[in-house]
Amino acid sequence: MGFNVAVDGPAGAGKSTVAKAAAKAAELVYVDTGAMYRAIGLYLLEKGADIRDEEAVKKLLPEISVSIVYEEGVQKVLLNGNDVSGRIRTQEVGEAASVTSAYGAVREKLLHLQRELAASSDVIMDGRDIGTNILPDADLKVYLTAAVSVRAKRRYTELVEKGEEADLSEIEKEIEERDERDMHREIAPLKKAPEAVLLDTSDMNIDQAVKALLVLIFERRIKRLACEQ
Ligand code: DC
Repeated sequence: MGFNVAVDGPAGAGKSTVAKAAAKAAELVYVDTGAMYRAIGLYLLEKGADIRDEEAVKKLLPEISVSIVYEEGVQKVLLNGNDVSGRIRTQEVGEAASVTSAYGAVREKLLHLQRELAASSDVIMDGRDIGTNILPDADLKVYLTAAVSVRAKRRYTELVEKGEEADLSEIEKEIEERDERDMHREIAPLKKAPEAVLLDTSDMNIDQAVKALLVLIFERRIKRLACEQ
């Protein structure tokens, strides 16, 4: 089995930024599992499906194929063979992913792809249930989080810097709703695995969070190498 790092945590905690940078420094493949759920969400929205109707969503799943390719080390998500990596990054698609990822059939569809990627490479995989469900034997599990107010402020700054309109209290409300859904669904809810290391980045900048994650990764790598000798 590859060397596996599981990074779970709520929306907007900076998982992907931190995990991506740490993956580069530690020469691991970065796998963004949220992008896979988003690809399914995008398909359903474009199809005009009622995403709140679990049975209707289930019926459409055979039409959907999600795969991952790497171009110059960057993950691209393919939806039925087309690169949708850019189009999945909207608030609307994120919401659709959050709603439909609660359905067992949707999770089942992506489980094998995620486990296969982890079996074939040394990975940092980020998501919601990686440490608790997808990779229970991961070498390192990290629960990366930040206070809701901090996550909302970061998102607000990101939008303003892009020249988009943003309302801080509206963003905070959306984050709270997303947390509520992701943490309280029946199947594979977001929660910290008991053995996961808690990394609260509320008072950290990106550099500090990346360094903290890298220290943990190198520690575990050495431990694993020592066990293999
Ligand atoms: O990380 P993200 O915002 O791109 O994820 C979008 C949604 O997908 C998230 O709100 C819940 C779902 N998701 C999940 O259920 N399990 C994962 N491993 C990753 C994401």
